[in-house]
Amino acid sequence: MDLYIDTANLDEIKQAADLGVLDGVTTNPSLIAKEKIDYGKRLGQICEVVKGPVSAEVIAIDFNGMMKEGRERAKIAENIVVKLPSTVEGLRACKALHDEGIPTNMTLCFQPLQALMVAKAGAFLVSPFIGRIDDIAEDGMDLIRKIRQIYDNYGYETKILAASIRHPKHMVECALAGADVATVPFSVIQQMMKHPLTDVGLEKFLADYKKAFGG
Ligand code: E4P
Repeated sequence: MDLYIDTANLDEIKQAADLGVLDGVTTNPSLIAKEKIDYGKRLGQICEVVKGPVSAEVIAIDFNGMMKEGRERAKIAENIVVKLPSTVEGLRACKALHDEGIPTNMTLCFQPLQALMVAKAGAFLVSPFIGRIDDIAEDGMDLIRKIRQIYDNYGYETKILAASIRHPKHMVECALAGADVATVPFSVIQQMMKHPLTDVGLEKFLADYKKAFGG
């Protein structure tokens, strides 16, 4: 399973990359807005740190605008993946960019047919938003399971990127449901190697050792 960090904050990206298990980065306009920095400039900085796929979202919502921005973003670095909304216009841009050899991440996916259509258009990634579905009292994980089943039924190569992950339990469930990738906020990455019994156990091992041998 690949692990991406969902942030535009360079410090967080560097800290996550230092762990040695970071495969990529996702950004979006809201995350960039928090950083108050030019989107293109920040993408260039991120691509210097992370060599895996870096998702760069377009701001345009019409086909021509998405194509223009998508081509521009793709020139920033060879690991840029153009992030497009899962709309009709986005679907058309996905197919056209795919035909030009530019990989796409189809974002804001909330139902299985969006995932089916973008796979047919050659998307590299599809991003079902688990947390936002849970927020409206539906089951986000069910969407991951349905997309997994559809992609496996027909052998689609589009990768399922579980997005809008809010806590470690989401992460465990995504791994069990067969998501190919999860994009996770830094706060969740920090929790992924934590367990109180690990800390207590380690403390006890060291105390026992010290008692027997001193030091
Ligand atoms: C994914 O690419 C999105 O940037 C992200 O996961 C959205 O998460 P949110 O619902 O917590 O904003």
